[in-house]
Amino acid sequence: MENRTHEDTTMKVSSLNCIDLSNPDLRQSVDSLKQACLDCGFFYVINHGISQEFMDEVFEQSKKFFALPLEEKMKVLRNEKHRGYTPVLDEILDPDNQVRGDYKEGYYIGIEVPEDDPDSDKPFYGANPWPSNDILPRWREIMEIYHQEALKVSMAVARLLALALNLDADYFDRPEMLGKPIATMRLLHYEGKSDPSKGIYACGAHSDYGMITLLATDGVTGLQICKDKNAKPQRWDYVPPIKGAFIVNLGDMLERWSNGYFKSTLHRVIGNGEERYSIPFFVEPNHNCLVECLPTCESDTSLPKFPPIKCSTYLSQRYRETHADLSIYKHHT
Ligand code: OGA
Ligand code: NI
Repeated sequence: MENRTHEDTTMKVSSLNCIDLSNPDLRQSVDSLKQACLDCGFFYVINHGISQEFMDEVFEQSKKFFALPLEEKMKVLRNEKHRGYTPVLDEILDPDNQVRGDYKEGYYIGIEVPEDDPDSDKPFYGANPWPSNDILPRWREIMEIYHQEALKVSMAVARLLALALNLDADYFDRPEMLGKPIATMRLLHYEGKSDPSKGIYACGAHSDYGMITLLATDGVTGLQICKDKNAKPQRWDYVPPIKGAFIVNLGDMLERWSNGYFKSTLHRVIGNGEERYSIPFFVEPNHNCLVECLPTCESDTSLPKFPPIKCSTYLSQRYRETHADLSIYKHHT
């Protein structure tokens, strides 16, 4: 902890490119997206087709869940498929700089894979635990609709990304890619004030593991990005929330796919003392998908930098590194 990174703490705000999914000029969208991917790996997505009323409803339901007594939330504690409730401090994303875990609680929801499906024994595929319908009526229904809608938006972004990578627009639509994706939404609730000088963070610095993440937030600021992780001191810029927009960022699998051409960017959340709610939607490809250098990203002068790795192997490793061992919660069950 002694050598906690020294950093520049003046308040800066980042301006990101904004991709309008209803823009008929595809070339313009692809150019703007590509520029954002090369610059910082973060951009806004607007006119994505999910109404503000529905977003508000999802956030309302998320608040209702986190307002339940801890005892009730522990009944849907996350399982070995990484679905369900994660208590405060369950996760530590940046152990080098954090004294304790993240000051956030969460709830993972994935695609429902029924027990009689041959894939249901695979890591990350399985059934979701759900809070009882008596306690939170319509909760499951609303979350499942959101999951489907967010996945549609992700597919639209994936098509633009494919074009930005000189691939066919439907490259990532193929069954072994995003055909049966591990797509996980996560309700998050942050509390308290962070203090980087003391190693206290709402969410420690990290890059996301998968292909892309669609982040919906409330109006409370907190998200920061660091464009150059090797800079000393590191410079962290706030990404202000824009009502109705998703903040989208690239994950480590896309960095690997694109041979480092597109970068996944370090980000974190600084709590300002206000409660904050957010919902990241993590898009990872099919369980069996081999993440290896894309055909358009390899050349005589740019040989593959990362060995091919199976999506679920990579993801399991990253989850293991960052989440508490489930056995610590034994006394609750
Ligand atoms: C994450 C994340 C940011 C936020 O969960 O990976 O970066 O604003 N969340 O909640
Ligand atoms: Ni993240």
